[in-house]
Amino acid sequence: MSASISGFSKLSKTKKIDWIVDTYFSNSEDAKSILKQYWNNDVKLQQLHDEFIENTISNYYLPFGVAPNFLINKKIYTIPMAIEESSVVAAASKAAKFWMDRGGFKTKVISTTKIGQVHFMFYGNVDKLKKFFKTVKPKLIKDVASITKNMEKRGGGIIDIELRDKTKDINGYYQLHVSFETLDAMGANFINSCLEQFAKTFKNEGLLFDGFSEEEKNIKIVMSILSNYVPDCLVRAEVSCKVEDLNEDKNITAEEYASKFIQAVNIAEVEPYRAVTHNKGIMNGIDAVVLATGNDFRAIEAGVHAYASRHGKYSSLSHAKVENGIFTFWMEIPLALGTVGGLTGLHPLVKLALELLHHPSAKELMQIVAVAGLAQNFAALRSLTTTGIQEGHMKMHLMNILNQLEANNEEKQIIIERFKTQAISHSAVVDAIHNLRTKN
Ligand code: HMG
Repeated sequence: MSASISGFSKLSKTKKIDWIVDTYFSNSEDAKSILKQYWNNDVKLQQLHDEFIENTISNYYLPFGVAPNFLINKKIYTIPMAIEESSVVAAASKAAKFWMDRGGFKTKVISTTKIGQVHFMFYGNVDKLKKFFKTVKPKLIKDVASITKNMEKRGGGIIDIELRDKTKDINGYYQLHVSFETLDAMGANFINSCLEQFAKTFKNEGLLFDGFSEEEKNIKIVMSILSNYVPDCLVRAEVSCKVEDLNEDKNITAEEYASKFIQAVNIAEVEPYRAVTHNKGIMNGIDAVVLATGNDFRAIEAGVHAYASRHGKYSSLSHAKVENGIFTFWMEIPLALGTVGGLTGLHPLVKLALELLHHPSAKELMQIVAVAGLAQNFAALRSLTTTGIQEGHMKMHLMNILNQLEANNEEKQIIIERFKTQAISHSAVVDAIHNLRTKN
């Protein structure tokens, strides 16, 4: 059967679903009822979700959890997290509780500059291009005045425009490399609108510039777009305590633990196979808060991983040391986040998440998100270097296994109790449920 269709986007939601279930599913009624099961009864709320994206046929739920007890710069937060993976929220909460008694997390926003670029081709004399750029720069800024007016009133706007020669990489390739301050907005629309206006002005003024030959006047704009690489939108998060205060686990001394922990971080600094997993653990915390607060986790992921490769080799985002008996664990990470605009004013749960965080500014949110990442990394490394990851992970994953096995509440209670003293594995839980059911 042909599975292509023209004009799908123009169909009503009902007709879209009809086409999908009839084309792809052996039991179209079952498929339809699963899709409808996730619709919201509140018609207005459902419509809001339908209109977030295109061709919406249902909602895809993620659990929305909270991790309490985060002491950040002497203020206590409960952090909202939207994530599907078991043990992440528990790990964050456990790390928060641990550091609460040891001075908490200290954070600092280092810089907040965002970048956008107009990419263009020019095959003429570079000195003439530089002269043209100098002449046209004030007009570039003047022509975006209507777009930047409100942002400037709030203290943000365009920081600078540079002409960058990239002809060593591609013949004829140059950029207008623009830096922005977008304050509490992530700023994607603002930046892209400015860039598209820069491109228009640059192209049009080029046609009129006396210093160019007829050929040189034809500057070819390739594209105008913000960059999700934001190495100058940087935040630092840190925890520290006396080595002896790390003593929590009876099976290992505090000194041994600190030393193993630092070795684990050092390995992630030099070994890309380990660094990717190490940073994945950090992103467990980062993405969950980024999602809960309505920010763009794809942009954050792309920017963070590029940053982790900035020295030419993929490496750990976090670092650890012991100096003068003090254990310090820290991370600097690029995070371009917004607390106004985008989903932040639209999605009811995002609004709730921001209220839970005391309506943070973008700078405050950068610090909270970085802390969630560091806490997550701390919890994972602590497990990895002591009990191993599976013990805690499987403890949290037990409920998923029980749900897969369609255990009822009574069975769940019995099995959870039994596995408090027994190692959890998928097969051990299957056997336990089987034994329980055959006994009854
Ligand atoms: P535990 O010591 O067995 O927990 O740790 P506990 O029952 O003694 O409770 C201690 C505290 O942990 C609790 O305090 C909570 O804060 C938290 P309380 O609330 O009682 O005052 N906690 C929970 N919070 C919510 N719901 C729960 C819960 N249980 C404990 N059910 C724990 C258990 C899982 C926390 C621990 O083993 C741990 O931190 N493990 C690490 C888990 C982890 O990192 N998971 C991420 C997924 S694995 C991964 O993808 C990344 C990785 O590959 C990255 C890397 O390689 O670096 C590992």
